[in-house]
Amino acid sequence: MSGYRENMATLVKQLNEHGYRYYVLAQPTISDAEYDRKYRELEVLERAHPDAIFADSPTQRVGASPVAGFQTVRHREPMLSLNNAMNEGEIREFHEQVLRFLEREGASEVITALSYTVELKFDGIALSLTYEDGLLVQALTRGDGESGEQVLAQVKTVRTIPLRLRGEFPERLEVRGEVVLPREHFERLNNQRVAAGEPPFANPRNAAAGSLRQLDPSITAQRKLAFFAYGVIGVAEQGHNAILAHAREWGFLISPFIRTQLTIEGVVKAFGEATALRATFPFDIDGIVIKVDPTSLQAILGTRQRSPRWAVAGKFPPVEEHTVLRDISLQVGRTGVLTPVAVLDPIRVGGVTVSRATLHNFDEIERKGLLIGDTVVVRRQGDVIPAVIAPVVAARNGDERHFIPPSNCPVCGSGIIRDREAAAMRCPNRLCSAQSSARIIHYAKREAADISGLGEKMVALLMEHGLVSDVSSLYDLTIAQLEALPRMGQQSSGNLVTAIEKSKTISLERFIFALGIRHVGERTAQALATHYGSLQKVRDATVDELISIPDIGEETAFAISEFLSDPSERELIDRLLSRGVQVQESERVSRTSEGETAGGGALKGLTFVVTGSLPSFTRTEVERFIQHHGGTVSSSVSKRTSYLVAGDEAGSKLKKAEALGVSVLNEAGLRAMVERGEY
Ligand code: IVH
Repeated sequence: MSGYRENMATLVKQLNEHGYRYYVLAQPTISDAEYDRKYRELEVLERAHPDAIFADSPTQRVGASPVAGFQTVRHREPMLSLNNAMNEGEIREFHEQVLRFLEREGASEVITALSYTVELKFDGIALSLTYEDGLLVQALTRGDGESGEQVLAQVKTVRTIPLRLRGEFPERLEVRGEVVLPREHFERLNNQRVAAGEPPFANPRNAAAGSLRQLDPSITAQRKLAFFAYGVIGVAEQGHNAILAHAREWGFLISPFIRTQLTIEGVVKAFGEATALRATFPFDIDGIVIKVDPTSLQAILGTRQRSPRWAVAGKFPPVEEHTVLRDISLQVGRTGVLTPVAVLDPIRVGGVTVSRATLHNFDEIERKGLLIGDTVVVRRQGDVIPAVIAPVVAARNGDERHFIPPSNCPVCGSGIIRDREAAAMRCPNRLCSAQSSARIIHYAKREAADISGLGEKMVALLMEHGLVSDVSSLYDLTIAQLEALPRMGQQSSGNLVTAIEKSKTISLERFIFALGIRHVGERTAQALATHYGSLQKVRDATVDELISIPDIGEETAFAISEFLSDPSERELIDRLLSRGVQVQESERVSRTSEGETAGGGALKGLTFVVTGSLPSFTRTEVERFIQHHGGTVSSSVSKRTSYLVAGDEAGSKLKKAEALGVSVLNEAGLRAMVERGEY
């Protein structure tokens, strides 16, 4: 091989190896910066020698030009579907059928060899990949099972699909599996679509299908699809488990849950196990697939018209349902913000009955195109709060109506105002009982004043009986008053008074958070406490000063200042202090300029904002990384921001940084700053 060719071959090999370690094994062994350097080196060589580009070069994953249309290609072997078993009984029934069939075929003597392999049933899009001499040459969708569409250019962008197989492989091989869109990326994609006025995808499966069927592969490339292999044609193995092991050796992801069982009892147990683990997988699954493991028995069992006799899908209850959006009601929050709430025909989804779901804000209703009376898609996965994803437009009958935003607070009747942040509507009446109770509930939260026993129901009871009107009145409550309330005994009354009493000693950051100032979450409260050190100093803060605190954006600074200059809020703080609340002083530490940092301080004196998703850092990790090296992390971009660290799908912050002329870095750039200590 000539010199450059050899160099190119080496780089392709190295980059593919590192790509595999990064995407499939999730165990990278080189830094992103190093990867990028090699990648750029390869790009330069490829530009100089376009005739020598290797088919499995990582540069071939992106950059392909849009295709005119999808070509239909016949599958060598049809892509079958699976029969469903909806519960444990039907799983046992499947086993009985397998036994009966084997007996009928005179194969009773081999029944002793019967075992089952259980794997996850991915809720995505089926693909059949063809490899010739180890190279990916064809990628077909399932289509009607007989022929599918050629989506090779799109599939090449999926990082967990090897362009070249690893290790030993037969000359020709077909790998079948499922493309999924991890939930995290599905949610991000939908948020972006809704923000851009595009209709959201109803579920990750539709989003995966939509992403794959993009004529322009560069769009597919942005979607973070993943592929799991579940079958191979063209390899002689004794059993399914061994086939999966092969697929892994060739560089594929396979089901992260695999159990091989000798008895149907074991299979049923595995079904229960997978059900319990369902929400822990980062992608949607809709069940398990139970496969007769020995290939010899699979051959005897054969297939019916469209499905194999040797496999069955053990289905989970759906996490997604359709129901009717009966109405949209309004909830008044502690700062008066009105949140629209979907009132739904009760529906069981993901194991609970859902009859209400937050719609977040008014613009969201419009962006999602929801009409009252619509049939809507509701999803609830694991512990996740139920969400109305999208309307089923095809189910409309013309009786649906637009939601008209109210002009008065549903609780106190005050005229509603539209907030600076366009999407929010607020009830301006501080004395609105809905606001008061929400503020008390917030004050009592564990992260705030931590008053156990004072939850939503208790606050409602106290308000209803006129015993409390604001947080300071909590400190006037007596055991006798509480005992007189319905369902309150001596013990619970005593406990509540003790918990309230205990809350009188409170740290500055908790106290600030407990006040329930708009936009002031725990992190901002902490920043204020650290900056000012005492309540008195916080009370005297000016807007200019607040804006200069690294963690505090302009809007938050205005909200704090507005709160602190409101005479009724100042009186409330005074009342709390006069009832005996003691706010502890906080140690003042300026993270930007004082103190040594553990990591050597390469980022000392610099303020960073992070946006988008980074290749290897989670949000918390990157923040720690920056702080560890002496930098400060802020949540909003301003002229004082030194750098914006932007990952994939960076949105408005990136635009703002560009507009303000703030330098933008990627993760590799950030790491390089620390490694080289230069900027
Ligand atoms: S095996 C001959 N295994 O489920 C066996 N299918 O109706 C055919 N699916 O569209 C499929 N996860 O794409 C198999 N672990 C898994 C699967 C799986 C998801 C899909 C498959 C097909 C549907 C079956």
